[in-house]
Amino acid sequence: MERSIKDSILNNKQYFGEKNYSQKSFLWENMTMGTCYYPEHWSEELWASDLERMKAAGISVIRIAEFAWSKIEPRESEYDFSFFDRFLELCLEKEIKVIFSTPTATPPAWLTEAHPEVLNARIDGVLYRHGSRKHYNYNSPVYQDYCRNIVTQSAMHYGPHPAVIGWQIDNELNCELRDFYSDADDAAFRIFLQEKYETLDALNAAWGNVFWNQTYTDWKEIHLPGLTPGKGVNPHMQLDYYRFIAESTFLFCKMQADILRSYCKPGDFITTNGMFPHIDNHRMTKECLDIYMFDSYPNFAFGLGSNPANEPLNDRWNSKTQNEVRSICPHYGIMEQQSGAGGWTTKMEGPAPRPGQLTLWAMQSVAHGADFISFFRWRTCTFGTEIYWHGILDYDNRDNRKLREVKDFYQKLQTLEPVCNADYVTSFGLLKDYDNVWDMEADIWHNRIASYSDNEIFAGAELSNLPYDVIYLQKDSTLSDLNSYPVLIYPHPVIMSQERADLLTAYVEQGGTLLIGCRSGLKNLNGICEMLPQPGLLHELTGTDIQDFTYASPAEEAVYADWNGTNIPMPVFHDILTPLPGTDVLARYADSYYKGEAALTKHRTGKGRVLHLGSAFSRDTLPMLLKYAGAISPFTELIEADGKDVELTLRRKNERTFLFVLNFQAAEVSYTLLTPMRALYTGEEVSGPQMLPAFGTAVYEVL
Ligand code: GAL
Repeated sequence: MERSIKDSILNNKQYFGEKNYSQKSFLWENMTMGTCYYPEHWSEELWASDLERMKAAGISVIRIAEFAWSKIEPRESEYDFSFFDRFLELCLEKEIKVIFSTPTATPPAWLTEAHPEVLNARIDGVLYRHGSRKHYNYNSPVYQDYCRNIVTQSAMHYGPHPAVIGWQIDNELNCELRDFYSDADDAAFRIFLQEKYETLDALNAAWGNVFWNQTYTDWKEIHLPGLTPGKGVNPHMQLDYYRFIAESTFLFCKMQADILRSYCKPGDFITTNGMFPHIDNHRMTKECLDIYMFDSYPNFAFGLGSNPANEPLNDRWNSKTQNEVRSICPHYGIMEQQSGAGGWTTKMEGPAPRPGQLTLWAMQSVAHGADFISFFRWRTCTFGTEIYWHGILDYDNRDNRKLREVKDFYQKLQTLEPVCNADYVTSFGLLKDYDNVWDMEADIWHNRIASYSDNEIFAGAELSNLPYDVIYLQKDSTLSDLNSYPVLIYPHPVIMSQERADLLTAYVEQGGTLLIGCRSGLKNLNGICEMLPQPGLLHELTGTDIQDFTYASPAEEAVYADWNGTNIPMPVFHDILTPLPGTDVLARYADSYYKGEAALTKHRTGKGRVLHLGSAFSRDTLPMLLKYAGAISPFTELIEADGKDVELTLRRKNERTFLFVLNFQAAEVSYTLLTPMRALYTGEEVSGPQMLPAFGTAVYEVL
């Protein structure tokens, strides 16, 4: 087909030009494949053949030592570096590079027995005991001292080693437990609050403590949110509690990062892995890390959708999480990529990847921005809690289909070399911020609306192939973080600050289109409702006023709105919008006592406009809203494919464009390439109708 991409959509600078990504300092030079290895789980006689077999499969980097404190400090202040010295020498000989980890995720028994104050506690004060992992707290000064010491010892000794290329801090901060109730946390919470509020009067006001007689008269009366009757808990206190956990996690990570930085070799990177709640991952990455790594287990994504029984997306939900990861670090790595069935002796997490799925899931990560894929784990452990968390190799240690697939994935990955460090291309941006993310946890009304929209926006975008970035508004966010997105959705900024309202106004004035949903602008930063006409600080921008509103009870008939003759769903909540002068009504409620009232409005400000939807977002309405807002699909001139059949992503670097097509189904699918492309796995030039087998993937360079 005669078609030039030169003057096409892809050269629309505002859409597809360089992003204002604040990429961290470390970028992979090549597409790299790795695995997680535990030399302490195996007889030393296996080490050499393991490393040789890895190398033969294409694995060049391994992550080690994250649970191996006792291998380095078997008893207090007794150090023995010989174990990892022997192992690292072998890695050097076999040309395998190493990401060394700090072992603070699993304090040794000698430590927790001597100092139980390092342990985390349940909300009722019962201590978590030795026997699993992540049983410590971040705030114990005693634990911090021991951690400082083991990190320093490890970094001083192994930092200079030529096989080491990077450091992982701890393992999955806030995995297993993301709530902390130890005495050390209790004490640290008070200090955090004193620093934040300075006076008790300020704290009492910020938490609305006059309600139910919660007023404090002395700092020592304040404790972590504890067990209370009913489901009652002060939501404003709870919001500060999450901020406190995030701060504690940040300081724990920073303490380690600062030590590592003073001992690691120039060019070696500092990272951590996973993505868990109650962490400001953006700040942590910006201030502590060189690159952020995610642990990708698509099995966990099954059933995440709002209607699991009929959910067509299944493991594609993992792409939603990767959109969040990319917002933290655009060119991230996967420290743990699922390679086998998941489970502990105490839980069954998911079936083995079917033939093709291992590659598909790893390609899903590459398609979203990862340039390093490290499979969890080289071989399934034969003992301990995770004997059913399967790795590449099984207990018998023979070559198997998973190893064959890893080798095949490596062949494919090598053909993707030009994709390394390429940016992800989007149709729109999805705004979030941690105040609202944490308020959702404290407030079920907020939660129901915002999690519904979050899932539906992903599903709607995914099924209609409209890729998006997530952008977290932070203290230092500026217009330049936003204006490369011509269309932004901020679904439910229930908490709104004047700074954010000003930033959004500036974005719209310079030509952006902003979509917001119900309950916007309801609360201040403490989670207290504003005594303002809603949407509060946003009402000038939206050109709307809300004088009546209701939760849309699932027990009642669904309410729709009429948008030019199309009935659009209005899920979860209804803000009944009153348009201010100059605001157009696009859709009106079609049912209930507010039939005929405005349900969707448009208001122009400067060169841009705001669409205000009175409800949560639904997957069916999303493509209509985006189309109306002028969002462009980057795929229109490239491929004709049904979003129900395949996920599409684009990565772009130096005007070169790479198209990923991922088939998550157990059946063959077809699609049509609208322009000549080079199929990277084979090098062939192709166009027109194509087929992908069950769980198949293809990557093309647009010619
Ligand atoms: C991750 C963790 C690994 C392993 C894996 C499978 O969350 O980092 O250590 O436990 O899950 O459970």
